[in-house]
Amino acid sequence: MTEISREQQRILIVGAAGQVGLELQRSFAGFGDVVAVDLESVDISKADQTRDLVRRVQPDVILNAAAYTAVDRAESEQELAMAINAEAPRILAEEALRVNALLVHYSTDYVFDGSKLGEWTEQDTPAPLNAYGASKLAGEEAIRQVGGRVLIFRTSWVYGPHGSNFLLTMLRLARQRDSLSVVGDQIGSPTTSIELARATHAIVSGVIAGQFGATEEWAGLYHMTCSGSTSWYGFAQAIFARAEKLLDGKIPQLTQIASQEYPLPAVRPRNSVLSNAKLEQRFGIRLASWEAALDVVLQALG
Ligand SMILES: NC(=O)c1ccc[n+]([C@@H]2O[C@H](COP(=O)([O-])OP(=O)(O)OC[C@H]3O[C@@H](n4cnc5c(N)ncnc54)[C@H](OP(=O)(O)O)[C@@H]3O)[C@@H](O)[C@H]2O)c1
Repeated sequence: MTEISREQQRILIVGAAGQVGLELQRSFAGFGDVVAVDLESVDISKADQTRDLVRRVQPDVILNAAAYTAVDRAESEQELAMAINAEAPRILAEEALRVNALLVHYSTDYVFDGSKLGEWTEQDTPAPLNAYGASKLAGEEAIRQVGGRVLIFRTSWVYGPHGSNFLLTMLRLARQRDSLSVVGDQIGSPTTSIELARATHAIVSGVIAGQFGATEEWAGLYHMTCSGSTSWYGFAQAIFARAEKLLDGKIPQLTQIASQEYPLPAVRPRNSVLSNAKLEQRFGIRLASWEAALDVVLQALG
């Protein structure tokens, strides 16, 4: 078998302007020939545009960070959410299979109903509570049905220095208000786009180097989150405990509330903490603790 070097790899990043997409661009810069696209250039809700993109680029690796991520809006835009989160991944998988490319795709903790007391494993049965979760689960299933060299990473509570996320919302609200109420009865693992890109880079490098063996050994579904867990309230507390300087001492008073006191169109799972044991066993990769990862993002924000 001829050795394939990183320099010869063509990497296609879809959803390149999103939280994870931006960090993937950073991580994979210099990895090979990187082609980064977003909604401005290719609309993956249109099947022909998605197919044309892959046929034009002829990638060795497709990193799909594009998604319909507006959890509440998805309740009233189910068709569009399905087109982007389920149909587009199916087409990417089909096209990847055609050219024997590696497809990396991200999914969500919201495929689970939150009823389990412990951590959710890849063997647990998904039962999404909302339309976003259902569309993401349909995407996972579509990709697995096509098969091939695919990696699906289920992650949770994603945030980072850019984009629209809980951390940046908390910081913005802190500048506007003296007190904030935050939901305390939903538990999950805040995960940074930085850690996701770092782990993805390590795994893709290993796969390309043949470090993890043949296709059927490493392909499949893995949970990938920062370690540890907290509630949104606990996350907010941790943010404000570290953001004194960033906010010039303007720390708001925090109150813990129940989900029912803050009704939203989409129901969220109570416990969506994912077990990362499979990821660790297969790839020897562990993401940072959510607190350590938070420190890194706050440092990046200055
Ligand atoms: N955010 C979370 O809390 C979270 C939690 C668990 C799993 N995930 C998963 O992690 C992955 C990355 O999420 P993220 O937080 O980075 O999301 P994000 O910041 O919302 O980025 C998604 C990107 O996809 C693009 N996009 C949307 N519709 C598109 C279309 N029709 N054609 C092409 N591009 C389109 C968006 O462009 P526009 O911004 O222009 O619309 C955006 O740049 C997704 O698979 C998501 O489901 C996220």
